[in-house]
Amino acid sequence: MEKLMIEGGRALRGTVQISGAKNSALALIPAAILAEDTVILDNLPIISDIANYIDILAELGVSVNQRADSFAIQPQAIRNTALLGDNVGKLRASYYLLGSLLGRFGEAKLGLPGGCNFEPRPIDQHIKGFEALGAEVHMEPDYVHVKARELVGSKIYLDVVSVGATINIMLAACRAKGTTIIENAAREPEIVDVATLLNAMGAQIKGAGTEVIRISGVQYLGGCRHSIIPDRIQAGTYMIAAAATKGDVLIDNVIPKHMEALTAKLLEMGVHVHEMDESIRVVGQPVIHGIDVKALVYPGFATDLQSPMTTLLTQARGVSMLIDNVYNNRFQHIPELVKMGANIRIEGRKAMIEESQLRGAKVTAADLRAGAALFIAGLCTPVGDITEVYNLEYIDRGYDHLIDNLTALGANVWREPVENLQKKA
Ligand code: EPZ
Repeated sequence: MEKLMIEGGRALRGTVQISGAKNSALALIPAAILAEDTVILDNLPIISDIANYIDILAELGVSVNQRADSFAIQPQAIRNTALLGDNVGKLRASYYLLGSLLGRFGEAKLGLPGGCNFEPRPIDQHIKGFEALGAEVHMEPDYVHVKARELVGSKIYLDVVSVGATINIMLAACRAKGTTIIENAAREPEIVDVATLLNAMGAQIKGAGTEVIRISGVQYLGGCRHSIIPDRIQAGTYMIAAAATKGDVLIDNVIPKHMEALTAKLLEMGVHVHEMDESIRVVGQPVIHGIDVKALVYPGFATDLQSPMTTLLTQARGVSMLIDNVYNNRFQHIPELVKMGANIRIEGRKAMIEESQLRGAKVTAADLRAGAALFIAGLCTPVGDITEVYNLEYIDRGYDHLIDNLTALGANVWREPVENLQKKA
């Protein structure tokens, strides 16, 4: 167990290179096993969730050769379709193996997924899609078993706009008989990235990125090579950190269009944001203004940036209102920010945030993005203040090279082991 130590009072300055998108990689890796031949994925982020996924593939008999950030996935020798080990419970995105194993072999048995547990995260829409394609789904106390004699295309309307369900149904449908139409589909860039890979493998998917996706089933999917899109949430986290510390940071290797909602909100606050073809420069200002923020499905403001944005809003004049319309209870970072002196009160789904002087404290990350909110808060405290963020393993799930990147930007951050007997105040 480790904790992240952060000294306050240093504005971030310099350039940071953004790596491949975690939430794309976690879908592309299981998608690769739909192929009869080797799939090479480039620009994968080096984070623990990816390492866990490679361990899960090994349980299936899928070998993966890694060279730097390129992974050659060889699904030719898959030997089983049951995964009941502990690895599956380490991350939520293991549920994509249901769609890909069902799509390729007509069956999958999977231990229940894990991941960030800020609230119960149902998979009823995934199941609705599998059943519409002709699969039988058995929910057992500690695993899910899906099986289909034959998968046949169908029209599926998602009751909830779900990234996971949209991708999982795409995975199951691309080798089904006939055409599948997903209506009310999620539109996140990661969904487009998965469709791009599948089409490179020989699938026939149209409309990814819109609310209607059409998949014409094919018999065979082959190998290919694909480079993953940049991580818009990692990029947004550094943009927010630059603004919060009144720094000047060039965020390189991004797709500015993916950052549109955040860029608009930063400009509304008075932060200077300059867009280039593949990079964005954020220049913090001495005074920024509070605003209202609503987290929505893409292309709205990303719920994954709602937590870091909370921290930035504590540095803005006036009162800001923040609502998360995607999750009901994604405010677990707020009590920890209050420990650091943040003036925030929660009213149902709304958080009312006032300008606050944050001070160093011992705080705990409840999930990955809550961790981001807390390390940004640590950067905003005065010179000499030290903030200790516990549960650093959550942050490691989504932010690769975090300490190197922040150090290169002028921050004073380091890891420390958590002594078993050490008690937080
Ligand atoms: C993905 O989770 C991301 N994770 C999440 O990022 C992200 O917060 C979320 O999309 C929303 O953008 C990965 O891609 C691995 P959803 P996912 O299905 O697919 C409800 C991070 O920090 N819902 O779009 O699980 C659900 O409860 C992580 O990187 C159902 O009701 O999210 C939620 O309220 C955290 N039934 C809403 O839909 C279902 O069957 C959106 O969830 C599925 C979802």
